[in-house]
Amino acid sequence: MNHILPTLPYDPAALEPHIDSRTMALHHDVHHATYVNNLNAAIAPHPELHGRTASWLLRNRGKIPVAARNAVHNNAGGHLNHSMLWRMMSPDGGGEPSGVLAEAIRRDFGGFNAFKNRFAEAGARLFGSGWVWLVSVPQEGGQLKIETTVGHDNPLTLGHFPLMVNDLWEHAYYLKHRNSRPEYLDSWWAVANWGEAARQFGRSLGDADEQPQGEVVFKVPAMA
Ligand SMILES: [Fe+2]
Repeated sequence: MNHILPTLPYDPAALEPHIDSRTMALHHDVHHATYVNNLNAAIAPHPELHGRTASWLLRNRGKIPVAARNAVHNNAGGHLNHSMLWRMMSPDGGGEPSGVLAEAIRRDFGGFNAFKNRFAEAGARLFGSGWVWLVSVPQEGGQLKIETTVGHDNPLTLGHFPLMVNDLWEHAYYLKHRNSRPEYLDSWWAVANWGEAARQFGRSLGDADEQPQGEVVFKVPAMA
């Protein structure tokens, strides 16, 4: 087995009432598990891809054999993005960021509420399935931006560093909020894990004490 489904860092019911336990169990145990299984199946005939991280597979789409390219890309993204999503939520979440991340959000968005509004608007506006991100852009001096990606794409492919993410696929909210993505995005702030976002921000600044642990590593390579 090359890629492994990470365990949830909390009980599936721990984010109630904001994210319901049925959605969490289905989302992690079925949807994310399927991406991991499909990724392993897609790379199985290609030994040169064994041992490559999901982030490498995403960043090196051109090196994937054409026959497997779409399956590897979509499922590596599904695996990587969901692995980040679980860490971006916490039963102890909510509130506001602090420290240097709060300062950077103030600097680049004019304030926390302005940032929240723009993040939610971008998430609501994306047509179809995708993700909404807070990223740091190394090519622009570490400026923070809000981006959306379609399918399971990830800003890593642009060399941008993800700090915060939310899932815009209907499977993330349909059981509780039905078709109301804005309602889901609004309730999600109560579980947003600003501690983890601050750690990601530290990693984006090269803080050696904040290097990610575990199998899934969000590491932006130097641009060639
Ligand atoms: Fe999802």
